[in-house]
Amino acid sequence: MKNSTVLITGANGFLGQKLSFFLSQNKFNVIATGLGPDQSQINHDHQYFNLDITSSKDCVQLLDQVRPDLIINSAAITNVDFCEKNQRKCFAVNSKSIKNFIPYVQKHNIHFIQISTDFVFEGLNSFYTEDDICVPINIYGESKLEAESLIKKSNILYTILRPSLLYGIGRGNFLTWSLEHLKDNADLKIVDDQHRTPTFILDLVLVIFQVIKLKKYGTYHISSGECLSIFEIVCNIAKYLNIDYSRIRKIKSIELNQIADRPINSSLCIDKAIRDLNFEPTKLNNALSKIL
Ligand SMILES: NC(=O)c1ccc[n+]([C@@H]2O[C@H](COP(=O)([O-])OP(=O)(O)OC[C@H]3O[C@@H](n4cnc5c(N)ncnc54)[C@H](OP(=O)(O)O)[C@@H]3O)[C@@H](O)[C@H]2O)c1
Repeated sequence: MKNSTVLITGANGFLGQKLSFFLSQNKFNVIATGLGPDQSQINHDHQYFNLDITSSKDCVQLLDQVRPDLIINSAAITNVDFCEKNQRKCFAVNSKSIKNFIPYVQKHNIHFIQISTDFVFEGLNSFYTEDDICVPINIYGESKLEAESLIKKSNILYTILRPSLLYGIGRGNFLTWSLEHLKDNADLKIVDDQHRTPTFILDLVLVIFQVIKLKKYGTYHISSGECLSIFEIVCNIAKYLNIDYSRIRKIKSIELNQIADRPINSSLCIDKAIRDLNFEPTKLNNALSKIL
């Protein structure tokens, strides 16, 4: 495993940056790829290439040049409302681009790790397992599920990881959004009828490392395992900042008038990851006490 060459897509993203750094520190030869110039904010030891994953020609050319032993696809359009309005672009990036990697993965019989999402679920139940039926209710979820299907039917060595609501220090994510809005002193309106199992970003990075080390294939759910409303999550963050959370007002999703529907409860059961990957989930409050 040491000195393996790993190609990471979307390396300028929240997960991509953390992952490139961690794997470089752990003796991987990291080929970080992303749109435009390298945006990593931390010292790194990776090679960076500008790569739009929707370009078949560029993907084939780069794969031939760097010959990775492993590919981690963390690139995606993650803005759910943007996806709803830009369906063609959303499917091109989030699903169809998978086809640009599959021939190389098949030919060299290498491991392909796909980062998927809890938004593949309808959200009418709770604590979804990997065996539950996926019924996405928005375009983003549909596109991520289509990527999963393409991967599953291509007969490759794959691992699909489905995290839920990523947070941590770094590029824009749920925590940075909350910090910004809590600190600017405005009254906040937060939905209390949407439930998630938040995922500490470093947990996901460590899980990816385990998946590579243990050569674990298939689908895994990754989260803290605690089902919280978005309102509860923001109140917890406020508590750690010593901000008076009585000024945070509960609202219902319908009042937000968002373009794309969101699942009401997309909480994920993580028993399989705990069993197979020795996954030790970090509870929201433990993560906040470490990082705030
Ligand atoms: N964030 C969450 O709460 C969450 C929850 C569940 C699952 N996930 C999944 O986790 C993965 C990582 O998410 P994240 O939070 O790190 O998202 P992110 O910060 O938005 O990163 C995604 C990256 O993909 C890049 N990208 C977009 N189109 C591309 C293209 N055509 N070619 C190459 N790169 C492209 C983006 O480029 P720009 O830098 O130009 O934007 C961005 O750097 C995604 O697959 C997402 O679906 C995220």
